[in-house]
Amino acid sequence: MENTRQLAGRHVLLGVTGGIAAYKVPELVRRLRERGADVRVVLSHSASQFVAPGALAALGTPPLVETAEGMLHIDLARWADVIVIAPATAHVLARLAHGLADDLLTTTCLASTAPIYLAPAMNQAMWQNAATQDNRAALSARGLAFIGPAEGAQACGDTGPGRMAEVAEILAALEDRSHGTALQGVRAVVTAGPTYEPLDAARGVTNRSSGKMGYAIAAALAEQGASVTLVSGPTSLATPHGVRKVPVLTALDMHSAVLAQRDHMQLFVGAAAVADYRPQTALPAKLKKSGDTLTVTFVRNPDILAEVAALAPAPFTVGFAAETHDLEAYAREKLMRKGLDLIVANPIDEPGTGFASDHNRVTLIDRDGTYPWASAPKTEIARRLALEIGQRLARRSHA
Ligand code: CTP
Repeated sequence: MENTRQLAGRHVLLGVTGGIAAYKVPELVRRLRERGADVRVVLSHSASQFVAPGALAALGTPPLVETAEGMLHIDLARWADVIVIAPATAHVLARLAHGLADDLLTTTCLASTAPIYLAPAMNQAMWQNAATQDNRAALSARGLAFIGPAEGAQACGDTGPGRMAEVAEILAALEDRSHGTALQGVRAVVTAGPTYEPLDAARGVTNRSSGKMGYAIAAALAEQGASVTLVSGPTSLATPHGVRKVPVLTALDMHSAVLAQRDHMQLFVGAAAVADYRPQTALPAKLKKSGDTLTVTFVRNPDILAEVAALAPAPFTVGFAAETHDLEAYAREKLMRKGLDLIVANPIDEPGTGFASDHNRVTLIDRDGTYPWASAPKTEIARRLALEIGQRLARRSHA
């Protein structure tokens, strides 16, 4: 019950579109109001076939309809602190994805700067259809957040993804620390930065990773309630608030520091640029020059990410793939080969993104799909990624 007042005083605009899941709407309204939210409801034309306007009026939230003056959408857009559409049909996702504004709900969404949450509900084949998935990717890239859908038996007799998320999950998503609820107390290990592989007492092999992305992820996970251990190669970055840092130098050090957490890890994010190879011998003294050439033998380092993903039970495992070309194909191959839950792919040859930059343009890839995100500051991407991971962990624990 600890989070029950988080929505106190917040203006929640609930959009309801047609679908059998609309029967859950009165329950959602009741729970939102119990939490102190000020709720207004907009029904699409077809939604009123599934939820009786009278039932909503009896709860004190008579549904709003278009008015002749035609300015209600602007008033509502300004009023809303948050907009949630539950259930969201395939049709409304398509309309939002294309910026169509042909009724009160879609005009309000277009006119509002409030965060928008979507709880899709539809037949599994409709959800998995490429058109719907393209719309989902476009909406996600613009920062609209999806809650669900859940998998399971459907009203039409099919089984698969497409059921509307439970009311409790929608509430959790709307609460301030919403996805923090999913990440609350989750023990997470994040690797970040480059590794340094010594050649001799004075020299070594490293790479251009700044660690910014990994540090931002550690910070975002901690902000959302996770208990974070950051295993970091050498960087000049400050340890984020509330994060426990374990500094390491080499890939072997990083490997031991990560695997020391193996019994406690519920989430692993491998954001470090780990050297794939290390010099076979690191000379204890400084190498003196002699001859015109120098040959160094390198040996393979352990693949930390793949080892973590193969643990039994494995934590939720997220990898990174920095690529100069064929981004999606290489990243998907890594996801499958290493047995990951999610991979974050980013191009490293685009000006203004990657390595030392504060911005990044990433594409999320899982077994079911590819979700390109718009370019954004690394801190923003980290926050969204933490939310996404929270949602996926919640879905996993509800499954
Ligand atoms: N990784 C790791 N341990 C390693 C190497 C990589 O944990 N020894 C992790 C990185 O943190 C990152 C992902 O694996 O999450 C990158 O995968 P990898 O296959 O090593 O990428 P590259 O070396 O960039 O790819 P490739 O060798 O295919 O060019």
